[in-house]
Amino acid sequence: MKGHAIKKSSHLLEDLNLTDLALDVITMHHERPDGRGYPSGLKDKQLSQVGKMSAIVDIYDALTSVRVYKSAWEPSEALKHMLSWCPHQLDLELTQKFIKMLGVYPVGSLVLLKSGMIGIVIEPGEQLLKPKIKIIFNSKSMNYVPVKIMDLRKFPNESIQSPVSPKKYKIEMGKFL
Ligand SMILES: [Fe+2]
Repeated sequence: MKGHAIKKSSHLLEDLNLTDLALDVITMHHERPDGRGYPSGLKDKQLSQVGKMSAIVDIYDALTSVRVYKSAWEPSEALKHMLSWCPHQLDLELTQKFIKMLGVYPVGSLVLLKSGMIGIVIEPGEQLLKPKIKIIFNSKSMNYVPVKIMDLRKFPNESIQSPVSPKKYKIEMGKFL
């Protein structure tokens, strides 16, 4: 598992002509501010900003993806846990910025609308609370519905009631992502 994280000194990186930025992403995305990461156990001050950012993005991706050993976490759940891991495992300021950038309903979130329809957020949209949604399920009839894209900004009477867990409605997200 730890074998893929390469030290900056590794001969594998020689002759690749990588930029400093790319090198930091490759070598630092498993390092942690408290020095308990790998492969070099670098500490906060030794990590570059892009190195710390790559750790945040890598963890978010791992948590919200399906892996052999775990199911995918919902974005809000992942972000809540990530915040609790600051500042030891993740940089607090950068994690807060990351959450702000993703918005209230991150892309990939499942949300319940006022009408009872359920959909996946596919684009953040300019208004934080009015993203673009792929409607897939009706919570009233408990059935899948023909997929429809809905830009919430264009529907003044429709709004998001809450994020929901796919488990609650036995929705298979994989089919629609
Ligand atoms: Fe990795």
